[in-house]
Amino acid sequence: MNLVYIGAGFVGSCSAAVSAESGHDVLVYDIDEKKIKMLGSGDRDTIESCLFEKGLGDLLVRNKERISFVGDYSLVEKFLDDCDAVFMCLPTPEIGETGESDLKFYFAAAEKLAGSLTKRNNGKQEKRLVIVNKSTVPIDMADKTKEIFVKAGVKNFGVVSNPEFLVEGRAIEGSLKPDRVVIGSWTGEDLEIMRQVYRRFYDSPSVKYIEVNPKEAAAGKLLANYYLFNKLMVCFDIIGRTCETFSGLQFENLRRILTSDARIGEWGFYDSLYSGGSCFIKDTRSLAYQLQTAGQNAILINETFLANKRQLELLIGRAEKEAGAKWQGKTVSIFGVAFKRDTNDTRNSPAINIVNFLSEQSVKKIKIFDPAAMDSFKGQFPASEKIEYSASEAEALNEADIIFICTDWPQFRGIGDIIIESAIKPLIIDGRRMLQHQYKELADNGCDVVAVGSPFIKSNLK
Ligand SMILES: NC(=O)c1ccc[n+]([C@@H]2O[C@H](COP(=O)([O-])OP(=O)(O)OC[C@H]3O[C@@H](n4cnc5c(N)ncnc54)[C@H](O)[C@@H]3O)[C@@H](O)[C@H]2O)c1
Repeated sequence: MNLVYIGAGFVGSCSAAVSAESGHDVLVYDIDEKKIKMLGSGDRDTIESCLFEKGLGDLLVRNKERISFVGDYSLVEKFLDDCDAVFMCLPTPEIGETGESDLKFYFAAAEKLAGSLTKRNNGKQEKRLVIVNKSTVPIDMADKTKEIFVKAGVKNFGVVSNPEFLVEGRAIEGSLKPDRVVIGSWTGEDLEIMRQVYRRFYDSPSVKYIEVNPKEAAAGKLLANYYLFNKLMVCFDIIGRTCETFSGLQFENLRRILTSDARIGEWGFYDSLYSGGSCFIKDTRSLAYQLQTAGQNAILINETFLANKRQLELLIGRAEKEAGAKWQGKTVSIFGVAFKRDTNDTRNSPAINIVNFLSEQSVKKIKIFDPAAMDSFKGQFPASEKIEYSASEAEALNEADIIFICTDWPQFRGIGDIIIESAIKPLIIDGRRMLQHQYKELADNGCDVVAVGSPFIKSNLK
C-alpha cells in the first residue's frame, strides 16, 4: 500500500519505519527540514542522533528503498494520487495548564491536506483513502476531522482513529511486536483498508487486533494513559512516601510483596521524583478537561496530576529540611536530563524544573551529565558561565557539593563507587533510588542521602 505520514516525530518516524518494514511504500513529511534531512540521511548514527530509538536507524537503512522523508509538499501532493492512507502524527500539547489540547498543529496539517486531496487524480478523487488519527486527540476528534475534509470538498475518504501505544525507548521493538492494534472507524470499508495496512498484525496470533468506533479508540488511549499515570502515582505518592515515613521499610521489599499479586501486576513499580515525558501528563489533563467540559467532576484525575507535581517539591523540601541543604554558592551536579532512560526526549523532564529552581538559588555552578539527551537539553539550557555540560559521570562529580539523580540510566548505579573512591562527600539527592544498594556505604563514607522511598540517611562521619 502507499502510505503518507505527516509529522516525523517519535510516533510518525517509528510507525512509518515499521510500515516500510511491513512492505508498504511510505512517504514521511515534516515541516522541520533539519529533522527530515537527518532521518532521511541513510546513516544509522545520524538518524539515531536525531531520534534516539533503539533499532530505528537499522530499520530505516534496511528499508530505504521503501521509505522517503520529504520537506517538499509538492512530493506529498504527487504521492496522494495513488495513496491508501494518510497518518496524522502531529503534536497535540496542552494549552498552558488548562488541560485543553492545542490542536493548531493538527488543524494546520489537516487543512493543508484537505486542499491537496481535492486535487487528487485531476480533481476526480477516484481512489478511497483513509485519514488516520495517530496523534492522541480528544474523544470527538474523528468527527471534527471529517468536517474539515467535507468542508474543503474532499470526496471518497474516511476518518479512522488508530491511537499509538508505543513506549519511548522501546518504540521500534514495541511497534514490531505490539500487544494490541486499536482501529476505530464508523465504516466496514475503512476497517478493511486498515486490515490491509496492518495485515501482519491482523493475522498474528500474538496481537490483539481491536476494531471499535473512532470515539472508543480515542477514549481508550486517554483512559489507558490515565490508568498508567495513576499507577505510577500510587507508587510514588503512596508506597514511596510510606517507606520514607516509617523507618525499617525497604521500598524494594514492599515492591516484591505487592507485585507478587497478579491483580496488582508488575508494571510501573518504581519510585521517582517525577513522571515526565510528552504524554501521561497532557493526556491525563485532557481527559479531565473533557469530563469537566461535559459537566462531570474530575477530582481523582486532577489529584493524580497534582500528586506528580508534589513529588519534586517534596524531594527538594526534604533536602532543605532534613539535610539542611543550602544552595547558594554550591556546585550542583545533575545526572540525567532525559525524562527517563533509553531516550533523548527531555520533554517534561524533572531536570528542567530542577535547573530552573537552582538558577534562582544563586548556586555557583550547575554541572550536567546525560549519556544521550544533552544535545536536546542544550536547546533549552545552553552552556554558560553557570551551566556546564560534562563528558562523563566522573567529570560531573568533580567538585560537586550536591548531586541530583533524575534519570534511571542503568549506568548511574556506578556513581556511588566513583564518589566513594574520590575525596568528595556530596549531599546525594537520589530521585530514582539508583544508589539504593549503597546508601549505607555512602553514609559510612560521609555523604548525607535524601532518596525517594527512604527516610533521610545521615552521614556516619558527622
Ligand atoms: N511520544 C510518544 O511516546 C507518543 C506515544 C503515543 C502517542 N503520542 C502522540 O502522538 C502525537 C505525536 O507525538 P510525537 O511524540 O511523535 O511528537 P513529536 O513532537 O516528536 O513530533 C511531531 C512532529 O510533527 C511535526 N509537525 C508539526 N506541525 C506540522 C505540520 N503542520 N506538518 C507536518 N509536520 C508537522 C513537528 O515538526 C514534529 O517533528 C501526539 O499527539 C502524542 O500525544 C506520542
